Amino acid sequence: MSATDIQQLKDQVHENMQGAVTIVVLGASGDLAGKKTYPAIFSLLRNGLMPENVHITGYARSKLDRNEYVKRITAHLKDASEEQKNKFLEVTDYVSGQYDQDDSWKSLNEHLDKLEEKRGLKEGRRNRVFYMALPPSVFVTVARGLRKFVYTDKGHNRIVVEKPFGKDLESSTELAKDLGELFKEEEIYRIDHYLGKEMVKNILPLRFANMILDPTFCNKTVDNVQITLKEPFGTEGRGGYFDEYNIIRDVMQNHLLQVMSLIAMDKPAGNDPESTRDAKVKLLRKVKPIDIKDTLLGQYVANGDKPGYKDDDTVPNDSVSPTFAALVLYVDNDRWRGVPFIMKAGKALDTAKVDVRLQFRDVEEGLFKQAARNELVLRIQPGEAIYYKLNNKSPGLTYRQIVTDLDLTYKDRYKDMSIPDAYETLILDVMRSDHSNFVRDDELDAAWRIFTPLLHKIDREKIQPKPYPYGSRGPQELDDFVTRYGFKRDTKAPYEWPVQSVGK
Ligand SMILES: *[C@@H]1O[C@H](CO)[C@@H](O)[C@H](O)[C@H]1NC(C)=O
Ligand SMILES: *[C@@H]1O[C@H](CO)[C@@H](O)[C@H](O)[C@H]1NC(C)=O
Repeated sequence: MSATDIQQLKDQVHENMQGAVTIVVLGASGDLAGKKTYPAIFSLLRNGLMPENVHITGYARSKLDRNEYVKRITAHLKDASEEQKNKFLEVTDYVSGQYDQDDSWKSLNEHLDKLEEKRGLKEGRRNRVFYMALPPSVFVTVARGLRKFVYTDKGHNRIVVEKPFGKDLESSTELAKDLGELFKEEEIYRIDHYLGKEMVKNILPLRFANMILDPTFCNKTVDNVQITLKEPFGTEGRGGYFDEYNIIRDVMQNHLLQVMSLIAMDKPAGNDPESTRDAKVKLLRKVKPIDIKDTLLGQYVANGDKPGYKDDDTVPNDSVSPTFAALVLYVDNDRWRGVPFIMKAGKALDTAKVDVRLQFRDVEEGLFKQAARNELVLRIQPGEAIYYKLNNKSPGLTYRQIVTDLDLTYKDRYKDMSIPDAYETLILDVMRSDHSNFVRDDELDAAWRIFTPLLHKIDREKIQPKPYPYGSRGPQELDDFVTRYGFKRDTKAPYEWPVQSVGK
């Protein structure tokens, strides 16, 4: 990042927060806070991207002494010098209290008032950001306590919340209603951390700043789109939560659908955050609810010394919860009619990877009818990359064609890059009051409409998932499934990216 870029961000933070903020981390003693929230805040602080006058108060039920608190919030700080750590520790403290007792909230508020007084903050600069690193069960209770006793009228209030936003349309609507009665929509920042990932933030610039790309994103040229998320590990003793949610609620209805909406949406009408969110909602409303016929569900079983899903002690022994799913979505608009969007996600697979693959149509006739299909791949993780698979004449006297690629692998191209964690960029956006990368309430509603009928059917009819061995590519039916929706694997000349020689 250039010095000008950094200065611009600093200015935006300063302007939006009047140079001062108190961040209250609810659930400060938990896993998410220690692994994600505190390291992100620390990194912003170290890079000078927090308001000058900042304080972080952790709040949770556990009674932690100062040492214990410090240990938890510094356990996951990367490459932190003692000096940086100390600077961070100077501006943070911890308060323990209950989530459902008025007195606890009142004393938290008194604590914050006193701090703001001591920090010399005048009215108008007493901004408070409430970061909810909490399980869904206490979510609304905490929001109520905050609204009633800790909400300030001497500055902005912001509340940052994380998934799960309900389990289906009904529960999500109820949650939205409860939260909506307490906080205004512009005060709410719903995190989907995929929206903070570098390559996901790159989708709109890539499409709309390049005249050669976006016009090809349509049913005339694209045959099918695959959005894939693979995890190489299972639930590993933490299947209790997962079993209730399954892979579809866990990563598809939220993360992968966000990626799909950025790939498929039309150009936003303006360059403000609400225009982007409007364009996403417009697209999502055109996505048809998923038909059970267009799905392949799987559940992993033991393989060698690797346990199966139901061997996890926290999982019911008759669970039918899918740990793998391939789902096909269709967009009912002129741009995409007829193009299958194949979403695949699974645990305990052969590798760790998230990517988007647009496979283009075959050359229909003439000289190059046999040519392999073009593909545009956006690799989200690990190792950000964009590559465009195309046909080229083999260099030399021959006229034979070979498959090759235009390759933009970030680590090779941007030697001096440093890619921030998704949470870091999202918390910075909260400080800049930029909602573009957060989920709006109507977006959530549109998203649940696509998935709820399928989820209810799976739960109600206890649809049996197909078994697949831990560490495999998924159920053996997968290849036939994607072929049925038009995906073609070039079997004559199997192609593995990256390619470095002409080949035979
Ligand atoms: C599953 O668990 C139930 C209750 O714990 C038990 O009665 C049953 O025998 C178990 N079934 C199998 C196949 O292990
Ligand atoms: C693409 O969409 C247009 C407009 O809806 C439709 O007429 C056409 O048949 C579609 N093309 C394909 C190949 O499905």
